[in-house]
Amino acid sequence: MKLKIIETEDGSFTYQKGDITYRSTHGAKSESLHVFVQASQLLKQNLSQWYVLELGFGTGMNLAATFEIAQKNNIKLVYYSLEPNLMPVNMLIVPDFIKNNLNEGVFENENLELHILPFRWQDWDACLGESQRTTGNHRGLPLQFPNENLNETKRQPPQGLVLQDTRFGEGLFDAYYHDPFGPSQSPQCWTPACFEWAYSLLKDDGILTTYGASGQARRAMQAAHFVVAKGPGSGRKREMTIAGKHAPRLEQPGYESFTILKSRHVGERAQS
Ligand SMILES: C[S@@+](CC[C@H](N)C(=O)[O-])C[C@H]1O[C@@H](n2cnc3c(N)ncnc32)[C@H](O)[C@@H]1O
Repeated sequence: MKLKIIETEDGSFTYQKGDITYRSTHGAKSESLHVFVQASQLLKQNLSQWYVLELGFGTGMNLAATFEIAQKNNIKLVYYSLEPNLMPVNMLIVPDFIKNNLNEGVFENENLELHILPFRWQDWDACLGESQRTTGNHRGLPLQFPNENLNETKRQPPQGLVLQDTRFGEGLFDAYYHDPFGPSQSPQCWTPACFEWAYSLLKDDGILTTYGASGQARRAMQAAHFVVAKGPGSGRKREMTIAGKHAPRLEQPGYESFTILKSRHVGERAQS
């Protein structure tokens, strides 16, 4: 099925494939700003660099929105995004200077360090182990719709990936953008195992944000030891979800419109 570019209600663009859209048709950029940039409270943390991890690079809209705010505030953005089905680079909705200088999924200048990791979260450990290997160019791969078949979507990390970087490891990220397709398309992205993976990579004060608002998704986050809160969604979505490693983080100023949810999972180990 072909990807179709569509204009959304705030004038920004996204892609549609069948009845699935990459971002909300009620405002693609507004959704990125509300659900990911604002709800992660990156700006409130007084950081000189932002370390963001994303599941699902898609069109690149979340990167573009985050970079715009970082730039306005003179903050360097270090952005890692997993994307097993990268669309051709010329279709991405990111500034031209990024598209034109993306090399093996990596872009770097003094304001932005971007790494698009061409594999799924499930393959994280395997790809970390393979970080010494070199690979071919994964740019411009024909778009495949996500599937759960490891062999079909698993790719080796690109050459020069910073997985050997000593900064990289558990507890690096200030924000984790959980942005896969919904549970019917990407069920493995909504499991306790996936949220445990994210938990291990977030800093103690780091925040998970997602448009996802189902009870099942929230329980999966709680099973992975996250404290979970619900708040107003973007556009016509009633709710969205944030999660952190401890309740006081979700009670900080700016989160007044969020309500922490009770967990039945306190002290339990997550089940995958
Ligand atoms: C909703 S789109 C992401 C939208 C994107 N963040 C943007 O700003 O345009 C979901 C993306 O998640 C990717 N995805 C699906 N399963 C995944 C997995 N297991 N691990 C990582 N990414 C996955 C898909 O290929 C798809 O591009």
